[in-house]
Amino acid sequence: MTTAPRTDLTDVDLFVTEQHLDAFAWLRANDPIHWNEGADGSAFWALTRYDDVLWAYREHGLFGSTRGAVLGGSFRSTDDTAGNRMLVASDLPRHRLLKQVIHPALAATVVERVTAQVRVLLDAAIERMLADGGADIATDVATELPAGALMVVMGIDHAEAHHLIGLTRRMVGFRDEQFVDTGGDQRLRLAWLQAEVFEFFADLLAPRRARSGDDLLSVLSRAKLNGRPLPEEDIFFNCMNVAVGGNETSSYTACLGVEALLAHPEEHARLARTPDLLVSAVEEILRWASVNAYVQRVVKQDVERDGVLLRAGDSVTLWNVSANRDETRFDDPDNFDLGRTPNRHLSYGAGIHRCIGAPIAQTELLLFFERFAALSGRVRSSGPARRLRSNFILGTTSLPVAVG
Ligand code: HEM
Repeated sequence: MTTAPRTDLTDVDLFVTEQHLDAFAWLRANDPIHWNEGADGSAFWALTRYDDVLWAYREHGLFGSTRGAVLGGSFRSTDDTAGNRMLVASDLPRHRLLKQVIHPALAATVVERVTAQVRVLLDAAIERMLADGGADIATDVATELPAGALMVVMGIDHAEAHHLIGLTRRMVGFRDEQFVDTGGDQRLRLAWLQAEVFEFFADLLAPRRARSGDDLLSVLSRAKLNGRPLPEEDIFFNCMNVAVGGNETSSYTACLGVEALLAHPEEHARLARTPDLLVSAVEEILRWASVNAYVQRVVKQDVERDGVLLRAGDSVTLWNVSANRDETRFDDPDNFDLGRTPNRHLSYGAGIHRCIGAPIAQTELLLFFERFAALSGRVRSSGPARRLRSNFILGTTSLPVAVG
């Protein structure tokens, strides 16, 4: 690449057109610690090399999370709202305490129940797709992954789970006219969308206080931090964290994986022939999709890296999607290879904030791709895919396929 591509990382079109991969290749080679002044008025550092991203994840004393993981409002998790109240937006020691109380609601026994629930929903969705001769993978099949997880983790029924997925989809799609009216003030819009999610949890909370269930709401309503119960708002923030963390990520990873398999039929056939490849296939799909494109941190004290001074108070973004294509860490990174090993992708992040829902995501994706592998040679795209307008969550909101 001789001339610099567009590199404003706030530009959603870059991601919708998938030109971000060129932009990141250029940044890694020429400006790996990049000061991004966005057309939207934001300014932040962008770390694009694997080693720098991993370094920032691990140095949680230098790079804090209280500004939230998302640029520009961060689902209102700015320092004075969710900071140190919502798991993903907390620093130590608060983060450790919150993790201890949330963990039982996502523990191994819960993962087992999620597996059983997702299996039932997925099998029914695939049966419907076969009977109809096709489906929209994004809306008819992949959403059953988070639906099954929510039913178990939140203790809600199928219809409630889909209602909640609709709400979080609007939050994550807050720059996409398919989900919201994108006119007006973006921060107000986000606050409004968040209030809808809070209302959903508020309706559920009162009856849960009275029972001793092991769903997240019941667990949080009984929890005590330093001897004090969690304020109601903190319960909602953390339920929202789990819902937003899990709803879009696993279903969009499934969709991007399907697109990759349709684009690489030889890899699809290889997976169908070699069931032992399933585990490494899911890792490669996670790397390839890099659905959580970046996370944000705030510099807590001045620090120099490769001659660049990052000042206390600056925003820093850690671009998983770029680290996962770093040619110094992955051989031939633009090759989709289901047998890739080693494959130390950063799709779940790293360090103290590494995804707490990863075991749930893994079981959802293993079930999904085990079933999708069996469709090799029988499934094809039957219409244009539609990409989510976001630079934070990379996803596909419509993916029509026909099955022969
Ligand atoms: C393919 C699916 C998923 C991907 C790619 C993904 C990605 C991530 C990433 C990159 C982080 C780190 C955030 C940071 O460092 O600031 C994270 C954290 C988190 N994820 Fe996931 N996630 C997935 C699925 C899930 C699921 C299924 C759940 C819940 C059921 C979940 C809940 C969370 C929560 C609560 C955190 C905050 C953890 C902490 O701050 O300690 N995620 N996820």
